[in-house]
Amino acid sequence: MSERTLVLIKPDAVSRGLVGEILSRYERKGLALVAAELRTIDAATADVHYAEHVEKAFYPPLRDFVTSGPLLAAVLEGDQAIEVVRALNGATDARKAAAGTVRGDLALSNRENLVHGSDSAESAAREIALWFPKL
Ligand code: CMP
Repeated sequence: MSERTLVLIKPDAVSRGLVGEILSRYERKGLALVAAELRTIDAATADVHYAEHVEKAFYPPLRDFVTSGPLLAAVLEGDQAIEVVRALNGATDARKAAAGTVRGDLALSNRENLVHGSDSAESAAREIALWFPKL
């Protein structure tokens, strides 16, 4: 079933010049780009996006990281897009992510892991409404 998911190509990917490489992996897989915008977010927006993590010990440095510079927010569409993007991204901890995945090939950090993908249909709906309210 075709569905939409929200992807963040995070500030580490933008500063390292990896946006094209990462977007191209999604496109080559067959996912369609529905919306994309380069944006620098403030702490309040980070807190809404990461609402489920705000109380966790790793959150303050995560908030500093995601607000540190521009990121590319995008909506991708395709058959099982949520699961497909998460498989392409690889495990959250890039040090443990499998080779062949975005994180496994291109990152070496649990925090600065290049990408975010919605983790469920509910998260995708919430995150797309937050980042792209006009969609
Ligand atoms: P993301 O998929 O965007 O979802 C939450 C983010 O928090 C995650 O990617 C990482 O960037 C970060 N994160 C999750 N767990 C940890 C952790 N244990 N230590 C540091 N950062 C983490």
